[in-house]
Amino acid sequence: MSKDAIWAKLQEMLNSGIDDATKANNMDELNHVKKQYLGKKGAVQAQMRYMKELNSAEKPEFGAKINEIKASLEKAFFDAEQALQDMALSCDLSRKLDLTLPGRRKSAGTEHPLRKVQREIENIFLQMGFEIARGPQAEWDYFNFEALNFPPDHPARDMQDTLVLKNGALLRTHTSPVQIRTMLSYEPPIRIIAPGAVYRRDDDITHSPLFHQIEGLHIEKGLHLGHLKGILQLFAQRLFGCHTQIRLRPSFFPFTEPSVEIDIGCIFCKQAGCRICKQSGWIEILGAGMVDPKVLEACHIDAEEWTGWAFGIGIERVAMLLHGISDIRLFFESDRRFLSNFA
Ligand code: FA5
Repeated sequence: MSKDAIWAKLQEMLNSGIDDATKANNMDELNHVKKQYLGKKGAVQAQMRYMKELNSAEKPEFGAKINEIKASLEKAFFDAEQALQDMALSCDLSRKLDLTLPGRRKSAGTEHPLRKVQREIENIFLQMGFEIARGPQAEWDYFNFEALNFPPDHPARDMQDTLVLKNGALLRTHTSPVQIRTMLSYEPPIRIIAPGAVYRRDDDITHSPLFHQIEGLHIEKGLHLGHLKGILQLFAQRLFGCHTQIRLRPSFFPFTEPSVEIDIGCIFCKQAGCRICKQSGWIEILGAGMVDPKVLEACHIDAEEWTGWAFGIGIERVAMLLHGISDIRLFFESDRRFLSNFA
C-alpha cells in the first residue's frame, strides 16, 4: 500500500474515533469506545501493521503521525467526557433538588397510648403483688352475666346492649368474667388484674363500641372495704400524682355488695371546680365493691371463710384524663399526627 493510502487509512480511523466518542451516551459507552481505539488491542495499535510497508525514511514520519492521531483521539475522548459530565450536571440541576430539605427518616412505630397507660396501671399492681390473668373476648353468657349474678331480665343482657355471636356466645361487655374464670381455676388467696378489650353497643365521643378495661380481684381471709379503699387510694396516687384524693360513692353492680364508684379529686382544677369535673371537683374513674357472697359460692369458694374486693377501670377514660383528650375516637383512628404525640 502506498504511503498516501496508509495516511488516508489513518485519517479515516481518526475521524471514526472522533465520531464514536461524540456518540457515546454515557461513561460506560465512552470507556468502551476508548478501549476500542486506544486499548492494547485497539484500532491505533492495529495501524502499526503498516509500518512494514514503509521504507526507512517514511517510518519516523509514520511514528509521528500515529502519535499525533493518538493525541487527537485522547483529546476527543476528554472532550466527550466533559460533555457527558456537563449533561449530567444540568440534568441534576434541572431536577430542582432542594438541598435544604431534611433527609427522609424511616419512622419507627411506637407503643399506642392506650397500651402505654395499660402498662402503667399493670406495673402499679404488679408491684403490689398482683398477677396478670386473661380471659377470652368471645365469652359465654354464664361467665359474662349468670355467674356474676345478673338477673335473667337485666337490660345489659339484651341484644340491644350486648353484641351476640352466631354460635350464642357474646363479645364480653366487661372484664369481670375473668374474675369467675380465675376463681374457678385457682384456690384463694387470689390477687389478679385482668386487662383486655371489651365490647358494648355504645358510640359517642366518650363511649366506644370497643374499649379496654382492667379488672382487679383480691380474695383473702378478712378483707373489707377499708382494704379496697387503701389499695385504690395508693393506686390513684401512683397514677395521677401523690396528692390525689379519692372518694367512694354508693353504687350498684349485681356482683358486688356493697358496690361503689370511685372518684378522684379533679387533677385539672385541684378540686376548685372546672368544665372537666363539671364544677364538682371530682371525676369518676372506676367501679368497685366487695365480691358478692353469691358470686364466691358460684365459684365454690366458702363465703364464710373468704372475702374479696374487685374493681373495673376503663383504660380509655384514664388515658383521656392523663392526656387531656376529649374525643375517645382519636385512639382508634390510627392518625399518625395524633399518635406521634405519645412517641
Ligand atoms: C363495669 O364494667 C364493671 N364490670 C366494673 C366493676 C368491676 C365493678 C368489678 C365492680 C367490681 P362499668 O359499666 O361502670 O362497670 O364500666 C367500668 C368503666 O369502663 C367505666 O367507669 C368507664 O371508664 C369504662 N367504660 C364503660 N363503657 C365505656 C365505653 N363504651 N367506652 C369507653 N369506656 C367505657
